Amino acid sequence: MTFQELAKPSVLTQPVYEPGKPIEYVARELGLDPATIIKLASNENPWGPSPLAVAAAKRAIEAGELYPDGGCFDLRKKLAVKWGLGADQFVVGNGSNEIIELLGHVFVGAGDEVVMGAPAFVVYKLVTLLFGAKAIEVPLVNWKHDLTKIAAAVTPRTKLVYVCTPNNPTGTANTEAELIAFVRGLPDHVVAVIDEAYAEFVEGAPDMRPLIAERRKIVCLRTFSKIFGLASLRIGYGYGSAELCALLNRVRQPFNVNAIAQAAALAALDDAAFAENTARENRVGLAQIEQGCRELRLEFVPSVANFMLVKVGDGMRVFDALQRKGVIVRPVKSYGLPEWVRVTIGTHEQNVRLLAELKAATR
Ligand SMILES: Cc1ncc(COP(=O)(O)O)c(C=O)c1O
Repeated sequence: MTFQELAKPSVLTQPVYEPGKPIEYVARELGLDPATIIKLASNENPWGPSPLAVAAAKRAIEAGELYPDGGCFDLRKKLAVKWGLGADQFVVGNGSNEIIELLGHVFVGAGDEVVMGAPAFVVYKLVTLLFGAKAIEVPLVNWKHDLTKIAAAVTPRTKLVYVCTPNNPTGTANTEAELIAFVRGLPDHVVAVIDEAYAEFVEGAPDMRPLIAERRKIVCLRTFSKIFGLASLRIGYGYGSAELCALLNRVRQPFNVNAIAQAAALAALDDAAFAENTARENRVGLAQIEQGCRELRLEFVPSVANFMLVKVGDGMRVFDALQRKGVIVRPVKSYGLPEWVRVTIGTHEQNVRLLAELKAATR
């Protein structure tokens, strides 16, 4: 027998996730100097991590021979103060991606259904399929999650409902009132997962804590990969009821989050000025890209996140043309948007270069 024949069917049919290409990879492939390449493909922070986080990470590696605190005690304590919740209302993951997987472990099995918007962050679907369940995809309306249609797609088999706000890849957001009414309207057997990976970029982002206080079936996801600039360290968290977090903690690996990431995340939370500055610069960059697209007569989807969809004609061709010039963006054909690319908002200079290359590639 082959390994393939021995593997679980859900593994063989699993679609492959295509991440934004690393700079070194593109440099090797195209013979470019890595120092001249800019990556605007994965919604990372163009301002890097907070210097406080970098210093803390360096200190933490000095004790690299020791296993980390698997329970992330200090981080959960700090998050509890930040959010006004109990430390037992958090689960920390190897990126918020891991929490999505933990949700699969706890709730999703063969024959179950998981409802999600389309297009939305593709990992919801990948994890659903991996656990042998059915992904019910509800098309966005005007680029936004249609919460009425998502609620209507819930059946007795539904285990989880994902709402990504701001949504990746569209950058659109649902209002607090919409989300609260939506979660309150869900039946008791469904857990609402609100993915807030980009919430820190939004002024007055929705606050889901009243729903947690009401004991609704809800969990919210956050990450240190975006506004805190710690994507390479892989750390994110979920918050919700203590009961739900205990279940998620039960199925994670004992040392799922390394000590360097924990130290950096703790320090990043202390550097509110850094996060605020990133959000402010991002708003300036959004306006810059919007204005640039207007001048180039390129349609775009107005975004509140740190990325934007731009309609370029043939997305793969333009992605390829930009990449040859050392500007990596994200084609979104696999999201069903072959005419678009998703661009991360960069620094002023990066945005200038992106717009110049967009102009050259779409003339
Ligand atoms: C909407 C959304 N959720 C979750 C993640 C995962 O983030 P991480 O695993 O780096 O915390 C991403 C990453 O791009 C994302 O766009």
